[in-house]
Amino acid sequence: MTRQNCFNTRRVPGALLATALAATLGVAVANAEETLDESAMATGFQTLESACFTCHSPDAAPADRIAPPMAAIRHRYLMGNGSFEAFRRDLVNFVNDPSATNARMRGAVNRFGLMPKLSFDEATLDAVAYYLYYTPLDRPGWSYARDRARYAARGAGPVTTQDYLRYGQQVAMQTKTELGSNLKKALKEGGPEHAVTFCKARAQPIAAEMSAKLDASIRRVSDRPRNPANAADAEELAIIRELQGALAAGEKPAPALRERDDEVVAYYPIVTNGMCLQCHGKAGSEISPATLALIKQEYPDDKATGYGPDELRGLFVVAMHRAKHED
Ligand code: HEC
Ligand code: HEC
Repeated sequence: MTRQNCFNTRRVPGALLATALAATLGVAVANAEETLDESAMATGFQTLESACFTCHSPDAAPADRIAPPMAAIRHRYLMGNGSFEAFRRDLVNFVNDPSATNARMRGAVNRFGLMPKLSFDEATLDAVAYYLYYTPLDRPGWSYARDRARYAARGAGPVTTQDYLRYGQQVAMQTKTELGSNLKKALKEGGPEHAVTFCKARAQPIAAEMSAKLDASIRRVSDRPRNPANAADAEELAIIRELQGALAAGEKPAPALRERDDEVVAYYPIVTNGMCLQCHGKAGSEISPATLALIKQEYPDDKATGYGPDELRGLFVVAMHRAKHED
């Protein structure tokens, strides 16, 4: 009997047979309906859908991948002692702190860069680990479409604020990853001047491409814009002031959410690091005279210099349709 058959016949006597087989072989096979906590499975799947799968896509073509498929991660994380507890602990540790020390998939880190940090409560991540541990995504019997239908959020009730914040965060992080890796490549290829030309030509189109791909509207805005098209409006400015206050007080700037009639808009802080200063730092020292001259030429109204590290450079603004997200 193949694993696929076991999975399709989830009821007795198939399930009993599967258990017996698993016991004899000593492998970890979930005995589906009888023992699984369906509510944890649903929470786990829904979190993956809203917060992980746009990067860890189960069905993206290899050339379109921006992160390893979740099936490959599951496979890697089952190596070792193979118990649920070890699997859960390793997964939660990594997602809470995606560092090179915690990463086990060196090849993926080299190819895609480290995963950005996302914030989740522990119970949600436990459910993600639970779903992943008990669902053989890396085997032929698994069907993405079937689990979508099976664990779809029930009813037409509004999706929670947390869902929007999470989905929006994923959209913003994915855009950030896309912009950041292209920027790094441009810097490596031709230094800051070449990269300025790259930003001017590509920053807006990349955001537009990601908007179309992820079915949300994504913008970057600032209180001190380089490109006047990225100037924050009154509502965005108010959020920027709040987040600057939090940073100044040594707190972590938190995302914000505003609901409108037909859309939900989420705002995520963009904070500087050392790399940014060669184009957004002190004019003439951190920003070389040649780079500065080019910036002035391309952006005569530039206000985006004089930043230090760990300062609020602006916001990712992600507008999501209400109806779309509730299907
Ligand atoms: C913005 C894109 C993005 C999102 C969203 C994302 N990841 Fe990742 N993740 C990556 C990338 C890129 C890698 C590969 C590089 C690495 O290992 O850090 C990765 C790697 C991983 C790894 C393997 C790490 C290792 O090397 O050991 C795990 C586990 C993981 N992600 C879990 C998750 C979970 C769970 C979620 C959803 C809660 C999630 N990721 C959401 C981009 C993302
Ligand atoms: C090579 C130079 C360069 C580097 C390095 C760079 N930027 Fe920029 N940045 C630009 C240019 C040029 C624009 C204007 C893009 C446009 O026309 O939309 C810009 C625009 C922005 C904007 C949109 C708002 C605005 O001012 O127009 C944000 C936010 C931003 N950068 C943040 C960052 C952060 C954060 C970093 C570091 C992680 C960084 N940048 C690194 C050149 C750079």
